[in-house]
Amino acid sequence: MVYEWLNERLDLNRFKRKYLTKVFPVHSTYFFGEIALFSFVILILTGIYLLFSYTPSSRLIEVGGKKIPAAYHSILLINSQPLGVIIRYVHHWAAHIMIAALILHMMRIYFSGNFKKPREINWLVGMVLFTLAILAGFTGYSLPFDALSSVATGIGYQIANSIPYIGPAIAKFFFAGKFPAPGSIPRLYMYHVVLIPLLLIATIGLHMLIMVKQKHSQPYKNKDIAKSGKILGIPLYPQQVSLMLFVFFFTLSVLFFLASFLPVHNVEYFGPPTLQTPMVKPDWYLLWIYGIIKLIPGNWVIPLGSSASIDPEVIGGIILPGIIMTIIALVPFMYKEKEPLNYWEPVSLRPIGTSAGVAFIVMFLALSVTGYQAALNIPIVICRIYTIVLPMVAFFITYFIIKRKKREEVNL
Ligand code: HEM
Repeated sequence: MVYEWLNERLDLNRFKRKYLTKVFPVHSTYFFGEIALFSFVILILTGIYLLFSYTPSSRLIEVGGKKIPAAYHSILLINSQPLGVIIRYVHHWAAHIMIAALILHMMRIYFSGNFKKPREINWLVGMVLFTLAILAGFTGYSLPFDALSSVATGIGYQIANSIPYIGPAIAKFFFAGKFPAPGSIPRLYMYHVVLIPLLLIATIGLHMLIMVKQKHSQPYKNKDIAKSGKILGIPLYPQQVSLMLFVFFFTLSVLFFLASFLPVHNVEYFGPPTLQTPMVKPDWYLLWIYGIIKLIPGNWVIPLGSSASIDPEVIGGIILPGIIMTIIALVPFMYKEKEPLNYWEPVSLRPIGTSAGVAFIVMFLALSVTGYQAALNIPIVICRIYTIVLPMVAFFITYFIIKRKKREEVNL
């Protein structure tokens, strides 16, 4: 009845025909993008809950005879509420799961070759999304303003500040003065709860629009079955929607499980900011940058005239990661395709690209282990050797395996 009434006025049947019958190809790796999307939705919902109790200020307030920052105190309050503490941990875990799902999503697209024509723009939009997700993590990390987060954010400030010429101005603008200035936490809070989420929502919208316009690429096996230009799969409604609901609730339950059994960033343990510096390591997805900083010799200083220089932290913390991210962003432009690629490309057709992808993954892992160099007691010279040798070994082993498989296929 209600449907009929609305249909007469809004022509819902046309909407149903046009959008709800859109076909989705079926493969479990399509869930990575969806898990990233649903983690983002959960981040927004849990973040809104946390806004009710969080105080974005480093101003000192007196609690039980001690002076502690208001932001830190508000996190203690959230931790003392049974629902507050679980929501805070779900929020924290959702950030990790979103970034992990994004990395897997990028790997799926890279190894299936679907960054190639016509999907170069969506690969670039994806790189913007990835950068925004990391910025969201960095700004969120600063907000509890305990000893750990204030030191970690201070390191970010120092690195930005040491960029020659423009660094001090950029650092002052980003952190609203010399961190921790009175305006720093309100500004980082504004980035974290307004600016970055709005940019993420707009960029995810663009990513989805481009994806709908270009249609999904589909698994290689569909090539022989699907009619040319058609997608072989299931309609959006009801099949794909049911799968999506399943993935959403599955992600939510995993997050609640992790939040219940693996609490993260225990602010009571670190306490409010102190003059002693606690041992700080960045989150796992930034460990590779920390690893590069460790590998750069302390005397690698590039003088720029008499008044400025490029310090090792800038080389390791900004220049080299910047070059690596730029290479990844430009991957689609390293190939000259005449025809659009609408199916996954078998890895055997791209032995060098696939081997380079594996070598990059091994390099990221080696650099992340280097982040733990001091704790693992590995001499830095050994770290330098394995960071160069292991990716090369990974490249040649992958290349050899692909070539051998190809030869076997030809001989069959
Ligand atoms: C918040 C971040 C992101 C979300 C929510 C997201 C979500 C999605 C979803 C749901 C799809 C369709 C299903 C699929 O192909 O897996 C998709 C496709 C795609 N994404 Fe993302 N994505 C994000 C970030 C990225 C990143 C970091 C990259 C790469 C740098 C990327 C590149 C692409 C490309 C090229 C496609 C089309 C793939 C194809 O048709 O095979 N995305 N994305």
